[in-house]
Amino acid sequence: MRKRASGSRFQPFEECGSREIHCVYGFAAYGERNGFERMKVLVTGSSGLIGSEAVEHFDRQGNEVVGVDNNMRRVFFGPAGDTLWNLERLKSVTKRFTHAALDIRDRPAIEELFRTQRFDLIVHCAAQPSHDKAREIPLLDFEVNALGTVNLLEATRQHSPEAVFVFLSTNKVYGDAPNEIPLAELEKRYEYARAEDFAGVAETCRIDQTLHSLFGASKAAADLVAQEYGRYFNMKVGIFRGGCLTGPSHSGVELHGFLSYLVKVTLSGGRYSVFGYKGKQVRDNIHSHDVVRAIEEFAANPRSGEVYNLGGGRANSISMLEAIERIEQMTGRKLDWRYVDEARKGDHICYISNLGKFQSHFPNWKITRGLDTILEEINLSQRAQLAQATAR
Ligand SMILES: NC(=O)c1ccc[n+]([C@@H]2O[C@H](COP(=O)([O-])OP(=O)(O)OC[C@H]3O[C@@H](n4cnc5c(N)ncnc54)[C@H](O)[C@@H]3O)[C@@H](O)[C@H]2O)c1
Repeated sequence: MRKRASGSRFQPFEECGSREIHCVYGFAAYGERNGFERMKVLVTGSSGLIGSEAVEHFDRQGNEVVGVDNNMRRVFFGPAGDTLWNLERLKSVTKRFTHAALDIRDRPAIEELFRTQRFDLIVHCAAQPSHDKAREIPLLDFEVNALGTVNLLEATRQHSPEAVFVFLSTNKVYGDAPNEIPLAELEKRYEYARAEDFAGVAETCRIDQTLHSLFGASKAAADLVAQEYGRYFNMKVGIFRGGCLTGPSHSGVELHGFLSYLVKVTLSGGRYSVFGYKGKQVRDNIHSHDVVRAIEEFAANPRSGEVYNLGGGRANSISMLEAIERIEQMTGRKLDWRYVDEARKGDHICYISNLGKFQSHFPNWKITRGLDTILEEINLSQRAQLAQATAR
């Protein structure tokens, strides 16, 4: 087990010696109201699902948050992927948030950003996030995911070497290796057949000699480089390999954001396609708030180059068939869906994140939002977005 990197300016609430709780989740407010130094947080992909949750969270605590996002999700996925609505929302709910429409591939611009500001925490969420999209745009995918990440790591090393750097990686770095786990087929889902696999996939799963998709490969390249900056340069770098990250601020599209898109189609009356595995493929879903809480825990007690699986775990796992059923019940609408008897290339059949390693390093962290809450929040957010679109 790797040792903790020394020192972090982020402190758990109890260590700050103040009872004035500005943030309800256990960390001190850093603003001058407590006499603590305000932190400067950089969030890349700040208009996206996880980035926007991080912006709101760290801003709420009194920190200065700089967001970088060039709305490239619209380039990847068209108008439905546009994140400007979320940027506007952030501007209206935050106090000290500033936004820069920079491209993380633009090394001189990133260098300039880091040369002019010193950051305490970098939360790197900007990405081409889709498994399937990557095959249409291999070069762009690699440039954003791999080159963009090394641009940020190197700028951090040069200008903010003491900062904590968190990289949002993915369970696709394991490629289809998790499909080698023996499975049992149940009526509506696949399930791990052996008791020893019940807790899910651990960080010890191999990442090479498996079919990743080009997205999985570009993220694996970034994941390894991020580990190296942690281990080789002893920087405080944490790598979180996400399961299905979800929440109300996702600009869900067919190629990315499964639950969000499923609710959207159910509400708007479009047609949904289920690809392969009889619709019994299983995903574990984690609310963006719980992801950001994990980032916060790591920032308070960082380690160098440590890798964690981060998903909803067994309790928040659901199959496609189960999700459709649950969303139909919740919305009171029938989903028009078709089955395509061909699985997405390299897709996982049953993936549940084993959260044991993260929980053993950070016992204060736990999943706080179950599937019902997650789906209800997405439902409300999608209804509001549809109403806004109709009003325009
Ligand atoms: N959502 C998931 O299910 C999931 C699962 C595993 C891992 N992840 C990872 O978590 C991270 C965040 O995912 P998300 O769901 O919030 O994605 P998202 O698409 O909602 O947000 C990413 C944001 O990055 C921005 N962006 C893309 N390329 C950029 C560039 N070159 N320069 C600046 N900004 C750029 C986009 O406009 C978008 O707003 C990503 O690294 C993703 O790979 C997500």
